[in-house]
Amino acid sequence: MNKHFHVQYDEQQLAWLYFDAADATTNVLTEEALEEFDQQLLGIAQSHPKGLVILSAKKSGFIAGADVKAFAAIRSAETAKKLILRAHDIFHRLEALPFPSVALIHGFCLGGGLELALACRYRVASTDPATRLGFPEVRLGIFPGFGGSVRSIKLLGHLPAMQMMLSGRSLSASAARRIHLVDYAVPQRQLKNTARKLIEEQPPRYQPGLLQRIPGNFILRPAVARILKKQVAKRVRQSHYPAPYALITHWRQNAGNTAQMYASEAQQVSSLLTGETAQNLIRVFLLQDRLKGLAEKSSFQAKQVHVIGGGVMGGDIAAWCVLRGLKVTLQDRAPEYLGRAIARAHKLFQKKLRDRYLVQDAMDRLLPDHLGKGVGKADVVIEAIFEDIEAKQRLYEKVEPQMKAAALLATNTSSIPLEKLAEKLQHPARLIGLHFFNPVAKMPLVEVVTQEDNPPPLIADATRFTKAIGKLPLPVKSRPGFLVNRVLMPYLLEAVTLLEEGVPAADIDAAAIRFGMPMGPVELADTVGLDICLSVAEKLAETLHNEVPENLRNKVEAGHLGKKSGQGFYTWSKGKAQKGSASATEDKLDHYAERMILRLINESMACLREGIVEDADLLDAGVIFGTGFAPFHGGPMHYADKMGKKEILSKLGKLEYTYGSRFAPDPGWENHFAQ
Ligand code: NAI
Repeated sequence: MNKHFHVQYDEQQLAWLYFDAADATTNVLTEEALEEFDQQLLGIAQSHPKGLVILSAKKSGFIAGADVKAFAAIRSAETAKKLILRAHDIFHRLEALPFPSVALIHGFCLGGGLELALACRYRVASTDPATRLGFPEVRLGIFPGFGGSVRSIKLLGHLPAMQMMLSGRSLSASAARRIHLVDYAVPQRQLKNTARKLIEEQPPRYQPGLLQRIPGNFILRPAVARILKKQVAKRVRQSHYPAPYALITHWRQNAGNTAQMYASEAQQVSSLLTGETAQNLIRVFLLQDRLKGLAEKSSFQAKQVHVIGGGVMGGDIAAWCVLRGLKVTLQDRAPEYLGRAIARAHKLFQKKLRDRYLVQDAMDRLLPDHLGKGVGKADVVIEAIFEDIEAKQRLYEKVEPQMKAAALLATNTSSIPLEKLAEKLQHPARLIGLHFFNPVAKMPLVEVVTQEDNPPPLIADATRFTKAIGKLPLPVKSRPGFLVNRVLMPYLLEAVTLLEEGVPAADIDAAAIRFGMPMGPVELADTVGLDICLSVAEKLAETLHNEVPENLRNKVEAGHLGKKSGQGFYTWSKGKAQKGSASATEDKLDHYAERMILRLINESMACLREGIVEDADLLDAGVIFGTGFAPFHGGPMHYADKMGKKEILSKLGKLEYTYGSRFAPDPGWENHFAQ
């Protein structure tokens, strides 16, 4: 049965094996697809072609990787190992074919897809910007397991291959060509001819030079492994992310012996895969897919966007939409307010596009428009002016009659209830929130803020638009702080309270990082700006039953706003906080972390109980992608579930007794665990 592959033979006796996964837009190496691939190889081998070309029939790319969904269902290391050894067998068979094989790569060629390509004799990649080759496995808590850790080293040499696997970063076709990961990088239209030529001429395979081979020498390997571990330790801790460390050990112990490398790869990857970190990271990967899937309910397509307010947020939202291929008109009160936003956009385009013509193209799509002429042509109007109810209401009164009937009207407000803002609209139910986070280009999440009366198709359109501009959409109810600021604020406020108690800032930040947060809360508050923190804290004081700490107010009154003013809780120099090192004992650090994290988790429960988000999984996704909450813990609710009701309630109870009612367990815990 040919469900996923079909083969064509041409007059030059070449076999063209197309991967076209059934019922999917993207090719993924499921167990079923792998088995069929093996059968196809058998058939092709028996027909003795001059060569084999493996290519994808999908627009989205070659192969996006192995089947991550199935990984989540694997419970035992033995099952994982069986699957890995089977893949090893199949790829060995591909590698051993008596005629040349070529992988023709366009679009995604990641993880298991790249491992398949590496088992071919040659690789040719399209120079289209959508082409990406890489090993993202470390981000899932594992390392390449379908022979990739062996073949990449053989082909590229030790350090280039290890760096690719350890970083998880993907490469463009030309970057892949530079390190010899592919033999040729050519325009899409020349892919097939290049494959024909390679099979015809059969040039010798690339061999890494002496410099690339030396670090693998058994005398040098232990020292090189130590250096690699040191580099990794700068980014992640072994207790949080064991995979890169396991990869280095695997390499150090086995690099001289191919058979041992394959055996150790299967052993190591299967045990990592079933460990807690990988299972939580896989969960996060699937949650990301779920957020993207929310966009499937609509076919809304925006071509033109009008952004009003060219400040910190509006300017960056406009630039981001342009970067994603849209035409954008950007309005502010007068032309002079737009200059800074346009200059910032230019910088972003240069950084991301790196090509003069593409940058020029992008600049041509960004139109300064202080008179607001773009309103009538836009499919989406995004308002990002001052956080002022009347100013926003007045603006909508003017804008609404000029808008196309089917266009979306969205606000980026961070704290004003949508119902209030919509009061003066002719059709109040058309206002929706698109809450971007600062910095727009870096933060993956957008909260799609909804009011009771928003028709579901409108919410679906806004969700679709968010996904189309490359952000993860999370529908949330219009309540103070929505989800992300609401759960982040108690965590930040607890940090400020710790400061008031005399705990050094460096200790507080070290405690959070030890738990797995990407940045400590004190540094985060300084980075966001203490004035912004104060304003959010004031707005949320009632909801959170948390008075605004005096030291936060005093800092703002003294003009100590954090990074932007050079002084906040830290002194800042050249964009860096002057921290000093932490001095508290590990027990103390754990206690500080517990206070901060439990407040975040307790507030997460409150949001769930109030229905701010639909379910616990979406809440976890929102908090991970909106705050950076340690992904290897799987999200706050997942973390709480692992702890269990008894422990959560007992810990909160003890903290409430010592520190007061802000730690009172949310009533939602009772029913949550009863489910
Ligand atoms: P900002 O003060 O940097 O920019 C506001 C811009 O709007 C200014 O350029 C101003 O000239 C312009 N403006 C004011 N009234 C206008 C009008 N009637 N017509 C046209 N332009 C007008 O403010 P920022 O920080 O960009 O905030 C904008 C919105 O985004 C606010 O609602 C804020 O709550 C929200 N937000 C801010 C975040 C942040 O980190 N700054 C994060 C998420 C949301």
